[in-house]
Amino acid sequence: MFQATPLPEGSKPRFYEELNRQLEGLLAGERDFIANAANLSALVFNLVPDLNWAGLYLMRGNDLVLGPFQGKPACVRIPVHPAPRGVCGAAAASRQTQLVRNVHDFPGHIACDSASNAEIVVPLLAGDRVIGVLDIDSPTLARFDEDDQRGFETLAATFLRLSDAPS
Ligand code: SME
Repeated sequence: MFQATPLPEGSKPRFYEELNRQLEGLLAGERDFIANAANLSALVFNLVPDLNWAGLYLMRGNDLVLGPFQGKPACVRIPVHPAPRGVCGAAAASRQTQLVRNVHDFPGHIACDSASNAEIVVPLLAGDRVIGVLDIDSPTLARFDEDDQRGFETLAATFLRLSDAPS
């Protein structure tokens, strides 16, 4: 049974290194994509400070559709093709992490939870196929920086390595 252990004081890189180790332990022995996605969101939401939403959207045809998450109920469907919407759509269409210090300055941002002020969205790739995004929201402006970006990209890579991608 997985147990959350206290995260070390100190720099963000050390924090994410430890969180990544905890994720590897949490996902060990199970490759089901949805089960592991659910535990990834629960781990991030409960151990990363100052978040109001953490979860996945999964590619279904031309849209991203809500997957496992923690936080308030959210918008279900976000178009990617032909015209991407929101921060999630931009991440999926560009295949680049979107680091948004102030969501109110992001053209087309989709406000699912009015508490959100900052957001980071990491695209999830299986080979050259975008299969979804990892979306993290915070009520604090400029909550995320490049250390958080590297941290979440590492967690996303661990999740993808330890899970069977949907076909
Ligand atoms: N804000 C996102 C929508 C999803 S919610 O944050 C959970 C966006 O603009 O794509």
